[in-house]
Amino acid sequence: MGVVASAPAKIILFGEHFVVYGEPAIVTAIDRRASVKIQNRDDHKLRFHSTTLKYVGQFEKNVFKVERGDEREARIKFEPVKQAVESVLEKHGERVGLDIEINSSIPIGAGLGSSAAVVAASTAAAGALLNVKLSREDIFRITLETEKIVHGNASGIDPAVSTFGGAILFQADTGFKPLDAKVDVPIVVGDTGVERSTKAQVEKFRTALQEYPRIVENVMRAGREIVLRAVDAFKENDLETLGDLMNINHFLLCGVGISHESLDRLANAARRAGALGAKLTGAGGGGCVIALSKEEKLQTVLEAIQAAGGRSFTARKTDEGVRIDQS
Ligand code: MEV
Repeated sequence: MGVVASAPAKIILFGEHFVVYGEPAIVTAIDRRASVKIQNRDDHKLRFHSTTLKYVGQFEKNVFKVERGDEREARIKFEPVKQAVESVLEKHGERVGLDIEINSSIPIGAGLGSSAAVVAASTAAAGALLNVKLSREDIFRITLETEKIVHGNASGIDPAVSTFGGAILFQADTGFKPLDAKVDVPIVVGDTGVERSTKAQVEKFRTALQEYPRIVENVMRAGREIVLRAVDAFKENDLETLGDLMNINHFLLCGVGISHESLDRLANAARRAGALGAKLTGAGGGGCVIALSKEEKLQTVLEAIQAAGGRSFTARKTDEGVRIDQS
């Protein structure tokens, strides 16, 4: 029994990092999900089990005990979920114990928003189990608060797309607007397998901005132009222009030190195999690249990324944000 909820991964098509400083970005939810099952317990503990990471541990108040896996790592992964579930418990008004099982098909630490998807799904599942009415806006807010702990200076892009789904044009001051365009473009995701911390990458970009403000501000301005041009290109389904814009966006990020040789290798392999464009997605420094490809070249691009040492899969846009799968 219990409640199962799930939420999607995301890819940032354009504008990562710059979005933290108020520039626009385009992001879409994709057809890979994190699923969380929550059940009641007889005691007051919050017990976590990640079937993906093979970590098991429990919190009794703030004391964490690991049953399986590295204690520090497990705590780091479970802490944001605990915070989100506790926000729901606070609204519920009564402290109860819960078993929380996390099962995700989203690569972790790879720039695909796995932590936001897990937190959004956990929040929704806890709300449904405890009969706490949560709007999508509530789930977004709770997920955003925890995301700030994990990622430091977070824009809110990951929680937004995991909660609401679909393709979104996002900007800090105007919020998120569903992108009024056909964004069902064929994308290949290539995972370098190099894990990195989003927080450290956000910090790295901030340092570049502080050291070279006038240069990096101009880089960000170019990023904004890319997003504006991409919005038109999506409307016209102009894949060639979108590919060019992805390449330019990638090289801007390279220029400010956000890429990694593993990302450049996979992006180059994808371009050589006929992708119209390729770029890193998310925080960079490792994680994933995305490559835009015509349908007939998808398989070749997929294989070229594997031959260059990456794991690859095709990703499709999904409109399904966070949802209850079983109650
Ligand atoms: C992380 O997926 C995207 C960044 O732009 C950080 C953020 O927007 O919170 C690097």
